[in-house]
Amino acid sequence: MKYEHSVEVMITKDEIAKKVKELGAKITEDFKDRDVLLIGVLKGSFIFMADLVRAIDLPIKMDFISAKSYFGTTSSGVVDIKLDTHLEFAGKTIMLVEDILDTGKTLSVLKQMLLTRGAADVKIVTFLDKPARRTVDIKSDYCCYTIEDRFVVGYGLDYNEQYRNLDFVGEVIL
Ligand code: IMP
Ligand code: MG
Repeated sequence: MKYEHSVEVMITKDEIAKKVKELGAKITEDFKDRDVLLIGVLKGSFIFMADLVRAIDLPIKMDFISAKSYFGTTSSGVVDIKLDTHLEFAGKTIMLVEDILDTGKTLSVLKQMLLTRGAADVKIVTFLDKPARRTVDIKSDYCCYTIEDRFVVGYGLDYNEQYRNLDFVGEVIL
């Protein structure tokens, strides 16, 4: 199929499958005998979430949220929830699942919001981590790959809403 940009493969479909299985096994081990509630942030997390939940061998519950964040001159932002979860999570540990941790602003606002609403703890689970661009003090508790400061697409990640359906991760050549 003809795409608008060329995309240079960085992580193949097979490598991703292996890594996500390993991450699911680690979460299974770390959370055995505990309630696991995963909340994915749409849209970027949808493919990672689908693979990750099938790699976790625990009686989990899952949901998705969709949010738009606004930031002024300070790093603390305001989040507008477009789609909310109705699962009961007071007193529970939530695993907040995202495609990538970049500046960290979005996830830190969402984490704070879930804690304010009564979650006992919020673990950050991201498919990718781009620490070079972090502006907020937040880290992934679980992550598949740490990458350099490149703009990547595929496996749920988009450039102008395109390329989410690629089954590999690649750098967009702009
Ligand atoms: P931040 O951590 O609040 O800066 O924002 C993270 C969001 O920015 C992610 O959920 C992605 O939607 C988007 N993003 C950051 N880096 C990339 C990238 O390399 N490719 C595609 N989307 C990205
Ligand atoms: Mg995005």
